[in-house]
Amino acid sequence: MSKSAIRRMNQLSFLNSKEEIEVGSKEDLPLPVEVLKKIDQDSPWVEKVFQGLTTIVYKIKIDGKYYALKKKREKILVQGVDGQTSFLNEIQRRKDFEGLEKTASELNEIIVETSYASLNHGFILLPWIRGQHISQLNKDIYENLFYSLYCMECNGFFEWDLSWGNMLLVNGSQIKLFDFGYTYLYNPLLEYNSLGKEKPVFHGVERFESRMLMTYLIDQEEKILEDKVLDEYKVEKEVALKYYIKKLRWLEEHRADDDIIAWTKGIIKLWEWGLRDNDSLKELYILESFRSYVVDVSADISGKSCSPMTIKKVNRVLELLNNEYDLLKENKGLFWDDELLSKQKLIDKYRRSKSRAEKYQLTTQSIIDV
Ligand SMILES: Nc1ncnc2c1ncn2[C@@H]1O[C@H](COP(=O)(O)OP(=O)(O)OP(=O)(O)O)[C@@H](O)[C@H]1O
Ligand SMILES: [Mg+2]
Repeated sequence: MSKSAIRRMNQLSFLNSKEEIEVGSKEDLPLPVEVLKKIDQDSPWVEKVFQGLTTIVYKIKIDGKYYALKKKREKILVQGVDGQTSFLNEIQRRKDFEGLEKTASELNEIIVETSYASLNHGFILLPWIRGQHISQLNKDIYENLFYSLYCMECNGFFEWDLSWGNMLLVNGSQIKLFDFGYTYLYNPLLEYNSLGKEKPVFHGVERFESRMLMTYLIDQEEKILEDKVLDEYKVEKEVALKYYIKKLRWLEEHRADDDIIAWTKGIIKLWEWGLRDNDSLKELYILESFRSYVVDVSADISGKSCSPMTIKKVNRVLELLNNEYDLLKENKGLFWDDELLSKQKLIDKYRRSKSRAEKYQLTTQSIIDV
């Protein structure tokens, strides 16, 4: 059985057992559990409501202090086992953070601490963070984010769901992470990611690029010149390289498995080559944007949650296959058995993906229907 299949099985059986997990202590709560549990949008403490897919988050004020009360939805609106177990998963990770506190002080700066969480009571209480969502990417944000990923990964946490809604910026560039619904445990010395050694394509910076950067750059391409887009990509790549060199040093110091060292060195070598000159950078952008479009389109289709951006990305995949097939083929840009298919077969495959992406367009109605 794969590592993720085992995790899913364990999490589902945990949910069925109705066992409790609690983080923090009830004694420290600003209101009794029974009162917090019943808070809804009409309660006097509520100042703001965020309708998430897994939870509803209430900004509440009690005795002059602000909190985020994250309440599990009766029915989680994300399909699939990982969606259904994401509330449990978040509490499990918060429990793990609690155990780490004394040794990993750098993580405390990054993650929003838990005031109290209970699986059976169905809520998580956090201090309210006065920050903003990221709207513009820049060097400071890359620095902060990649350092955050470095800390998370060295402590054995792999974050899959890096997205605009899951981080806040405090004082301009300090990133705070607060949504751990898709943060899974792994051993960074022995595994590429929380899938173990199954899919080396996934790593921290890849997650950021696939979930955020490449989408942002598609939008930027519609607004600014191609050269400017490459300039932005270059800034990100330079910072990513710096943190992967730091990570490599850490892996070597901690005697990581040879495969992990070789894999990390491979990524570093590729980025160093890309940063040599403008032509290489253009080629690296083709390779990495292609990779990110492919993994993102595949995730959207398998989760049956596609958007107009999925169609844009699958169109890019088709365009790159038509125009850059040789470059992709020669530089290991094709993966997940795509490297075994001819150019024409690949084009046919992604045309079928496009039809599926059209079929699975997520409408408000389909979210409600789930
Ligand atoms: N501690 C906090 N301080 C300030 N804002 C917060 C806090 N926690 C959550 N939020 C706000 O609530 C929103 C939803 O939170 P979160 O992502 O944790 O919930 P979710 O149910 O996982 O949502 P989604 O399914 O949309 O990812 C965030 O984008 C953020 O704006
Ligand atoms: Mg979220």
